[in-house]
Amino acid sequence: MKITVLCENAVGKLIGFGEHGFSAFIETDRGNYLFDTGTGHCVVANSLALKKDLKTLRRIFLSHGHYDHTGGLPEVLKLSGKVDVHAHPNLFSDRIAIHKQDGKDTPRYVGLPYKKRYLEYLGAHFVLNTEFTEVEKGMFLTGEVPRKTAVEKQDITLFTEEDGKRVPDVLPDDQSLIITTGKGLVLILGCAHAGIVNIIDHVTQKMGRDDFHAILGGTHLDFHTPEQMDKAVQFLKKLKIEKIGVSHCTGMRASIKLSEAFGDRFFQGCVGSFLEIE
Ligand SMILES: [Fe+2]
Ligand SMILES: [Fe+2]
Repeated sequence: MKITVLCENAVGKLIGFGEHGFSAFIETDRGNYLFDTGTGHCVVANSLALKKDLKTLRRIFLSHGHYDHTGGLPEVLKLSGKVDVHAHPNLFSDRIAIHKQDGKDTPRYVGLPYKKRYLEYLGAHFVLNTEFTEVEKGMFLTGEVPRKTAVEKQDITLFTEEDGKRVPDVLPDDQSLIITTGKGLVLILGCAHAGIVNIIDHVTQKMGRDDFHAILGGTHLDFHTPEQMDKAVQFLKKLKIEKIGVSHCTGMRASIKLSEAFGDRFFQGCVGSFLEIE
């Protein structure tokens, strides 16, 4: 099995483009899969540069409804044609982020930028789940992750709209992918809005094991206070993790801390980086 980062904020090889988003291409004996699609600016160009054929996809997994993980879906579907797209039903929620701009709170739409029907016309067959699910033998989606620990707090800049009212977005749709391998579990995160500690607790409990060969993807640690970040890194350090490759919303501060904690087992999951499991 080989997992290659297709879209990410930074470029690490001499090929490909960076963008604020995430996408990973997964090659297995059974076929190829895509986890998230980036914003849409780079997924096709990077797939060509990295020689990953988007026409061969067996399934697409979407970690959550933010545009930086779903925006590339039309471009991918134009190549893949009819394909199962796995996600939580809240994928289609309206999403807003509010950040300060020139001293003023400025709202920005950050949800899935396309209508469900349009995506279906392009070939998407949505398979929606809220529970922990075995999609195929040895391939699981976490479903909704209970927010049990207080290690990481909800991102207070994110909102959704319900019946015309703006309310905090707790992102129940945030889910991660688990693949079992002979070397242990591989956990692929989109943005880890549920909190990496909560996600790992949930995975450990549902899978009945805690041997992680690798954890890859966005950890959202950049959005936490230094204390929360330290607690999360300490939590990860105590686990059995062979490799940790972080991307996207992890940020420089958390990457440095993880690199110090994991040494050679750490890598920056930039565009073109990959994990190969024999
Ligand atoms: Fe997100
Ligand atoms: Fe993100």
